Amino acid sequence: MRRAAPAGAAGFAARVRRLASRRRRLVARGRSWQLRRATDWFIFGAFEPELIGSVGLSRDRHRKASHKVHLWGMYVAPSHRRRGIGAELVRAAIRQARALPGVEWVHLAVSSAAPEAQRLYERLGFEVWGTEPDALRHDGRIASEHHMALRLELEGATRIES
Ligand SMILES: CC(C)(COP(=O)(O)OP(=O)(O)OC[C@H]1O[C@@H](n2cnc3c(N)ncnc32)[C@H](O)[C@@H]1OP(=O)(O)O)[C@@H](O)C(=O)NCCC(=O)NCCS
Repeated sequence: MRRAAPAGAAGFAARVRRLASRRRRLVARGRSWQLRRATDWFIFGAFEPELIGSVGLSRDRHRKASHKVHLWGMYVAPSHRRRGIGAELVRAAIRQARALPGVEWVHLAVSSAAPEAQRLYERLGFEVWGTEPDALRHDGRIASEHHMALRLELEGATRIES
């Protein structure tokens, strides 16, 4: 998972625009939401009207792992937090994951330094399946990383568990 931790919202907006324009893909406008769409790679942005939050979703590139998507780059500008925007972004990503044929899992990783993000994911049904100790080191601080997953319903799939 890629962390989006820019110094400020302006830097973040510029970064997402750069990222999106590099993909040169269609931009479909919704009410206050935009979806930048590629075959297997998405960025959801919340706009008010400027960009105030974003999350990315990409399908695993390996054929044998293509039943998984990875959620990354979750960020809401500090001035707009605790208004449900983060939850809406994740819901939009989950809806997109459900719309992808054959996708059954949404995976993500969250730092132990971001308990508010972990709470949000848990509220939406994600569960921790493993924790990597000493995963991230920054400015002399050490954080572990929780790996979380949400299982989507999949009809007609043949399960091989072991
Ligand atoms: C994690 C993050 C994306 C959450 O975004 P957000 O928009 O604040 O998320 P939400 O508003 O949906 O939920 C956050 C909290 O606000 C609460 N909330 C939501 N709407 C609310 C409202 N109208 N009034 C009061 N509280 C509200 C939620 O219940 C939640 O509370 P809790 O943490 O005590 O359970 C944001 O804090 C962030 O960008 N953090 C820095 C980057 C980061 O850590 N990213 C995650 C990487 S994995």
